[in-house]
Amino acid sequence: MSDHLDTPADTAPEPSRTPVALPDAASWTDPHLQPAAKHPEFVERLIALTFVTGFLSFCAFGAAYWQDWAPWSLGLSLGAGMLLVGTGITAWGKYLMPRGPFVEERHVLQSDKQDLDAFTNALVERGATPVKRRKVLGGLLGAGMGVFGIVAAFPFIRSLGPLPKNSLATTDWKPGTYLVDQSGNRISQYAIAIGSYVTVFPEGWQDQDRGQAVDQTILIHEESSVFKNMTSIPDGFVAYSKLCTHAGCPVGLFERQLKLLICPCHQSMFDITNSCIPIFGPAPRPLPQLPLAVDADGYLYAAAGFNQPVGPGYWERS
Ligand code: FES
Repeated sequence: MSDHLDTPADTAPEPSRTPVALPDAASWTDPHLQPAAKHPEFVERLIALTFVTGFLSFCAFGAAYWQDWAPWSLGLSLGAGMLLVGTGITAWGKYLMPRGPFVEERHVLQSDKQDLDAFTNALVERGATPVKRRKVLGGLLGAGMGVFGIVAAFPFIRSLGPLPKNSLATTDWKPGTYLVDQSGNRISQYAIAIGSYVTVFPEGWQDQDRGQAVDQTILIHEESSVFKNMTSIPDGFVAYSKLCTHAGCPVGLFERQLKLLICPCHQSMFDITNSCIPIFGPAPRPLPQLPLAVDADGYLYAAAGFNQPVGPGYWERS
């Protein structure tokens, strides 16, 4: 083992480490430590080019995902980015790293202290230097992988769906909205006999998904005298949300003799004469009431929106 010490000026040993000689095999003049490429600067520029184009491809993938571009553009941009960055990493290792081969003669397996210190010195002082010397490539690689990591998070974030905002607390019933049947015909007070009921929707929403889901309402005509301390029930017309307050099933069964609305899912029963409070079953609160009014031609319309959010009480779980 040679006593020759080959230490670059900017990597002097720390005071706490025992200064020892590096073996000849770790010398910068060792031809095995030279890059494999004949023109390393030229290769470095080519690799930088692959990293930059890969970086731009990842940016394009992020834009394509964000803007909902065609699926082929997603595959093309992501595939090109991974191919270019992968090619750059491969070329870096193949052409710019020390080419070897590194051969060590067979010797006694147990190292003495001097060998251990020499190895530690060579590893710490020299091991990372070939990578550190390529700061531009390292930076570009880090940028490319950073963008890749960010755009890879897009599908996860997007899979959570849009924020519901206040859509869970409101419906499309507004003051002045006319009641219509499934065909869009306005409901006349003269068309519904006492004891009858019909499913109604806000005008313009009867054939929309949202209209069929959260806006569906049951309109019942009864004698005004059966209702207890209730308002906005012109001539005995009363309207309640059809979404059960237990688990959201449509409450579509009307027991006229008992004046009860019954949910078919778990048999909750609501008293229509008393603000539809639940008198049996797991439903925790009344069906929301839609205040009604009648125009000069006898058509029914909403005097206001529902008096509380419809459906299961998600807001009560906090
Ligand atoms: S969903 Fe109506 S009682 Fe359960």
